[in-house]
Amino acid sequence: MSSQLWDDVDFYFSSHLAPEDDALQAALRDSEVAGLPHISVTATQGKFLQLLAEIQGARTVLEIGTLGGYSTIWLARALPADGRLISLEYSAKHAEVATRNIARAGLERIAEVRVGPALESLPKLADENPAPFDLVFIDADKPNNPHYVEWALRLSRTGSLIVLDNVVRGGRVVDADSREPDIVGTREAIELIAAHPRLSGTAVQTVGSKGYDGFAVARVLG
Ligand code: SAH
Ligand code: DHB
Ligand code: MG
Repeated sequence: MSSQLWDDVDFYFSSHLAPEDDALQAALRDSEVAGLPHISVTATQGKFLQLLAEIQGARTVLEIGTLGGYSTIWLARALPADGRLISLEYSAKHAEVATRNIARAGLERIAEVRVGPALESLPKLADENPAPFDLVFIDADKPNNPHYVEWALRLSRTGSLIVLDNVVRGGRVVDADSREPDIVGTREAIELIAAHPRLSGTAVQTVGSKGYDGFAVARVLG
């Protein structure tokens, strides 16, 4: 199976099921012009996140790792007009691009980007005693994945959904001896989800225009 075929299939599905409107296309274009890396979710994955948030009846979403706000737009569109999405981003430059993209999509009253290392932003956010987040999308620096899962639990409620991106990484996740920090962090997160009494999770492998990867999904139990 070739990656050209994965690309073609992704194109077929996205053109029918997850077409990008002007705001999403412009978000990718401006991210490209600003020199951001090409690592946002694909359109089919963005639509999948949006559907998860809708199925969840989400009013509040926490995103860790904004980049240019592409996944942010898909997720924020699942929320009601008085819904709230907070997205945490380390890079001031990425956050600036994302904030413009979010505004162009007309979502500035729903989605807010906070700049800084997420492990500093998360305790500040917790101090504000926010309403529990109905869905948390973790897509930032992979070495911190176990910490992000812990924070997601802390900021959520029974029934909240936690989604973790990039858990396969071309299959490197199976290497128990890996010293690659991304792989170590992701394995720790998977094993934390597996062992945690308040989490029920699974992981799904994906192929597509971003190659071979996958995501984990976990539901917070009472
Ligand atoms: N969710 C985005 C892609 C995010 S890429 C989308 O699908 O459209 C990962 C992002 O995480 C990058 O923008 C990177 O700058 C950010 N990041 C890396 N380390 C971080 C940290 N410690 N805290 C917050 N964000 C971080
Ligand atoms: C990378 C990060 C991502 O969040 C992603 O979806 C793909 C790749 C990366 O750091 O390479
Ligand atoms: Mg990702």
